[in-house]
Amino acid sequence: MSGISSHASAYEQLRDRLAGEARTWLVTGVAGFIGSNLLETLLRLDQRVVGLDNFATGHQRNLDEVRGLVTPTQWANFRFVRGDIRNLDDCKSAFVFQASTDGGDGAPDGEAYPVQHVLHQAALGSVPRSLVDPIATNETNITGFLNMLVAARDAQVKSFTYAASSSTYGDHPGLPKVEDRIGSPLSPYAVTKYVNELYADVFARCYGFRTVGLRYFNVFGPRQDPQGAYAAVIPKWTAALLDGEAVYINGDGETSRDFCYIANAVQANLLAATVEGDDATNQVYNVAVGDRTTLNGLFASLRSNLAVHGVDPDVQPVYRDFRAGDVRHSQADVGKAVRLLGYAPTHRIEQGLQEAMSWYVDFQKLRR
Ligand SMILES: NC(=O)c1ccc[n+]([C@@H]2O[C@H](COP(=O)([O-])OP(=O)(O)OC[C@H]3O[C@@H](n4cnc5c(N)ncnc54)[C@H](O)[C@@H]3O)[C@@H](O)[C@H]2O)c1
Repeated sequence: MSGISSHASAYEQLRDRLAGEARTWLVTGVAGFIGSNLLETLLRLDQRVVGLDNFATGHQRNLDEVRGLVTPTQWANFRFVRGDIRNLDDCKSAFVFQASTDGGDGAPDGEAYPVQHVLHQAALGSVPRSLVDPIATNETNITGFLNMLVAARDAQVKSFTYAASSSTYGDHPGLPKVEDRIGSPLSPYAVTKYVNELYADVFARCYGFRTVGLRYFNVFGPRQDPQGAYAAVIPKWTAALLDGEAVYINGDGETSRDFCYIANAVQANLLAATVEGDDATNQVYNVAVGDRTTLNGLFASLRSNLAVHGVDPDVQPVYRDFRAGDVRHSQADVGKAVRLLGYAPTHRIEQGLQEAMSWYVDFQKLRR
């Protein structure tokens, strides 16, 4: 059953609360897809944000785009730290928001605000990338994660919310996926994301440090990179269709996913970061919708959404071999996040595609 809802009351209440009270946030991976969307939402809510990124897979253009979407006063509430989470000193340097001395950020001159909430998104994504270079994935996703945990613990932040992954379900055959039933990892990437959960759990036991892990399921939306060998399926296929290039489906197309629009993932982060009560923290949560879409279904949907942009309504995909490390079916039970966080996803895949499509189209136009 889908966890979709037409209203997001816990989230709306939280947004109202935040709008009346500026807090200080650290978003790692801020120049990436999910990080830049978190930045946009937080700045729109007049929050203070420090962003950390080394541009490994993120882009300055994502930060520039956010700058154009918020007011100058809101943008003045952002500090960017170019740094690498594999370096502990870089991590530590991002835990204070230093107000400017010209009053442009609305804060008292020169005041230093310690970070209260960490939204840790920086990582090297992609299963295939991790198969090609498991050491690089390990260094950023495990060493970098541990650095961030240590720095956040030492800075005594109020909450540490991190990007976990549905890949942690590995070869467990059960559907829908429930948080406490996982299998063996199917890729180096999946190992790293599972190790994140183990470290977070141990930091709770050993240091009383509070964390929440969000197991994202195929998040998509504006600013998700359509370029490069490791692009995700939705931006990659959309770009190929717009450019009249072949779309390749790995396997028979009946592989399924629970595609999650970015607005749902942003909501889950803000709810998780601010949740109170011991039962809801030191937990991991599925973040998705509870739907299941096959790759064949996704292809048909993209093709029809793009017909107005000149894409041939009869174009067909090219089928090729299944890809190593891929899970066959993925669908989330989002009940735990609904119950304990008040999570209420606002977008199913179709609504998300409709909202995101103009961004993909504009991006492709600019590239040409
Ligand atoms: N997009 C999804 O569907 C999905 C699904 C499951 C999990 N995740 C996780 O969500 C997080 C964000 O993913 P995304 O889709 O936004 O990817 P992304 O590649 O767009 O963003 C990741 C960001 O982290 C930065 N980064 C990488 N290595 C770094 C380092 N060593 N130091 C500092 N910054 C570094 C990159 O430059 C980039 O800006 C990742 O942890 C990813 O594993 C994403």
